[in-house]
Amino acid sequence: MLESAVSPSLMCADIFRLEEIISGMESNSIEYLHIDVMDGDFVPNFCLGTDYCRRLKARTSIPLDIHLMVTEPADKLGVFPFASGDIVSVHYESGSEENTRRALEKIRAGGARPFLAINPDTPVEVTGKFLPLIEGVLLMTVYPGFAGQKMVEGSLERITALRKALDNNGYGNVSIEVDGNVNYEKAPLMRRAGADIFVVGTSSILGPGDLTENIVKFRDILKGADCR
Ligand code: DX5
Ligand code: ZN
Repeated sequence: MLESAVSPSLMCADIFRLEEIISGMESNSIEYLHIDVMDGDFVPNFCLGTDYCRRLKARTSIPLDIHLMVTEPADKLGVFPFASGDIVSVHYESGSEENTRRALEKIRAGGARPFLAINPDTPVEVTGKFLPLIEGVLLMTVYPGFAGQKMVEGSLERITALRKALDNNGYGNVSIEVDGNVNYEKAPLMRRAGADIFVVGTSSILGPGDLTENIVKFRDILKGADCR
């Protein structure tokens, strides 16, 4: 089983406390910072942008986990400052297969980790033909675009099915990142189902309470899931 990693969703971070929050992420050895980018077309919302990513990269060495919810992403990557160690996810549903392939190849050429994102209604089997191009699957457990939603029914079974397919076909090193309503109750279930990267927002770490206490609580719960 792949080591677990935590990727707080900064769209859920209080913008007026961002400096304090980033310092808290650093002192708690958070592995990634999840940046939701939206174009108002692929999803009916706008969110964080390229300047936000650039400023963040200048401020911290925590790798970025850029979630592109944009149509035809291949020709929009150039404005993002991704580099080695970062994750960049593009959606299977966001354009032609050619565009998706080109985007994944550009992400890898830029030194980052290419991930394919799939929405809750997209069969996990679609990932099969992209496996040679990716290092992970971003499995959406909510419909993308907004924080504070409830996990879509059947998400745990999808994680299990995807993990089994990856492991049985020689892709055991491909990560499963889960994004959406990852709370303290569901996270261990997602972990046992086969997820290893957890996007955490209003449902847990960036919800009510002290940031460090929330992070410690979340990591303890994940550790508990590994011991079962
Ligand atoms: C959804 C976003 C997530 C996430 C936020 O498009 O990608 O960042 O839902 O976390 P929660 O679901 O806990 O508010
Ligand atoms: Zn996201």
